[in-house]
Amino acid sequence: MERVRKFKPEDTKEIIGVYIDTYAQEPWKEDWHPESVRQRISDLTISPISICYVICDENGLIVGGLFGRRNIFLAAKELFIDEFFISSKHQRNGYGSKLMNFVGIELKKEGYSCLVLNTERGYPSVIFYKNNGFRIKESNIFMYKNI
Ligand SMILES: CC(C)(COP(=O)(O)OP(=O)(O)OC[C@H]1O[C@@H](n2cnc3c(N)ncnc32)[C@H](O)[C@@H]1OP(=O)(O)O)[C@@H](O)C(=O)NCCC(=O)NCCS
Repeated sequence: MERVRKFKPEDTKEIIGVYIDTYAQEPWKEDWHPESVRQRISDLTISPISICYVICDENGLIVGGLFGRRNIFLAAKELFIDEFFISSKHQRNGYGSKLMNFVGIELKKEGYSCLVLNTERGYPSVIFYKNNGFRIKESNIFMYKNI
């Protein structure tokens, strides 16, 4: 039986492997160096406002994670999700839906009212998020500037 639990610093080594495997696959095809992932995971999990969970398989092995940050907006508490991933060989087995659903239920109990994230237009993750109740906010645009 799979289990969702809070991320612990001791999970870092295992999660680095899962992360590299996940994003090496189509359509992401990202070539992450383990040290960059270690730094990224550390950055995302170290803050007092970090909210981080992992999902494990029936043997207790980590198959994915959700790393987010609390975002207070007016009277509302939101979770901004920076990372959400399930290892390639475990995808499309319901792990992602279970993890997202669990975190939504937990945070609702703590007074959160919304989950927010960015993803790539046209990627399979968009289908997943829509199936899990996310909607596209048409009034927002994502902007950047190279410096
Ligand atoms: C997106 C992701 C988190 C979904 O987790 P998951 O455990 O595979 O999702 P679930 O098994 O709960 O749900 C599967 C459903 O999501 C959608 N979906 C997930 N991956 C898909 C894919 N590669 N192609 C098409 N649909 C996909 C489908 O609707 C699918 O249902 P189906 O298998 O009955 O068609 C996971 O596939 C993943 O980590 N992908 C790579 C990394 C990524 O895209 N992360 C999000 C970055 S913003």
